[in-house]
Amino acid sequence: MKIVTIVGARPQFIKAAAISQAIQKLNKTKRRIQEILVHTGQHYDTMMDKVFFEELKVPKPDYHLGVGSGSHAKQTGKMLGRIEMVLEKVRPEMVIVYGDTNSTLAGALAAAKLKIPVAHVEAGLRSYNPAMAEEINRLLTDHLSTLLFCPTDQAVRNLLKEGIREDSKRIVKNVGDVMYDSILYYSKIAEKRSTILKHLGFDTRHETRDTSYYLATLHRAENTDDPKRLKSICRALNKIGEETPIIFPLHPRTKKMIKVYHLFSEFKNIKFVEPVSYLDMLKLEKNAKAILTDSGGIQKEAYWLKVPCFTLRNETEWLETVKSGWNVLVGVSTGGIIKEVNHAEGRRRYLRGNKVFGDGKASQKIVQILINHSGSFDER
Ligand code: UD1
Ligand code: UDP
Repeated sequence: MKIVTIVGARPQFIKAAAISQAIQKLNKTKRRIQEILVHTGQHYDTMMDKVFFEELKVPKPDYHLGVGSGSHAKQTGKMLGRIEMVLEKVRPEMVIVYGDTNSTLAGALAAAKLKIPVAHVEAGLRSYNPAMAEEINRLLTDHLSTLLFCPTDQAVRNLLKEGIREDSKRIVKNVGDVMYDSILYYSKIAEKRSTILKHLGFDTRHETRDTSYYLATLHRAENTDDPKRLKSICRALNKIGEETPIIFPLHPRTKKMIKVYHLFSEFKNIKFVEPVSYLDMLKLEKNAKAILTDSGGIQKEAYWLKVPCFTLRNETEWLETVKSGWNVLVGVSTGGIIKEVNHAEGRRRYLRGNKVFGDGKASQKIVQILINHSGSFDER
């Protein structure tokens, strides 16, 4: 069976690594999947791109489309044309896309128009905020997909509300979350191997949760590109940083906007650092007092690592983490953020649902479903 995997942005390298590993395992048996990896080039800085391929041993891309940054339409448009050329040449039986980025939508659209079945990993997520680029991408991708791999029961229910259910032409399954597979595998390795805390000047003899620091990340366009929201969040982080260090690995979009608004000198209590590798990130997350973020993946990682999370948004796709009490939607007001973070420790007593995100075998299940349905969806 020949499949094409399409990736382009940081979280997709992490998700695709889990599936690639499961494919490699399968290929040791009699059944075989030939995976052809296409990298759109949406992310390209070493610390947003190559570091993940090296650390997670993702196979080198067979095709690198070099699309780079641009407006939504220009970036997606460039991807569409270039992905189409690869798909026409390779003619795979199936195309796999991940999550909700422009690379996801471009991959799904190019494949669907060529009548190649699309498998969507992380299907069914909804924020119900139509202004988010990601909501547009995930909605359209789901409606173009033939195999919808949902990470939770909630995601399956979300699809059902839109009339997407399993039938003779479509697979819709809760397989669990591939990022959970990854964290189970890599978090112990990260604890042993990562030297990030030492590197950042923390006394590694005290590498426990008491190692006093908060971890922050921010990259959603609605937060970074609106100076009022960006300043309001940074003010809160800066205030928190007066008492407890706050480490902030900077996404390039955020770095650009902080520079544009000259905020580096204003917020001296925030320890801004370059983006870090996955293992370093897991180490930073696990040992933080709490995490403040607008990232989708990091909300879940905080939950899995049992670290309180404060989500710098008004809504989330990952409702399960909020319902459990480990994640709080704090929005972006300076006072609101500070008030909630002051009570972070109390959140550690909440109970967490068992196996809400699967059993750590999502990738294996996905690969098994792909191989079981090889040849079934030739005529879309
Ligand atoms: C994208 C996804 C978002 C995902 C995030 C993961 C879309 C619409 N958004 O957001 O869903 O959560 O990736 O991190 O697809 N830049 C660099 N170097 C890079 C990459 C980007 O400097 O390697 C800068 C460029 O100025 C670029 C900006 O960051 O214009 C934004 O990059 P882009 O890929 O468009 O969106 P993200 O914010 O990364
Ligand atoms: N991540 C990382 N280094 C960083 C920031 C994030 O390795 O400096 C990882 C993080 O642990 C998670 C994923 O990147 O696995 C989340 O990606 P991101 O926040 O960019 O996107 P989102 O999940 O919001 O789409």
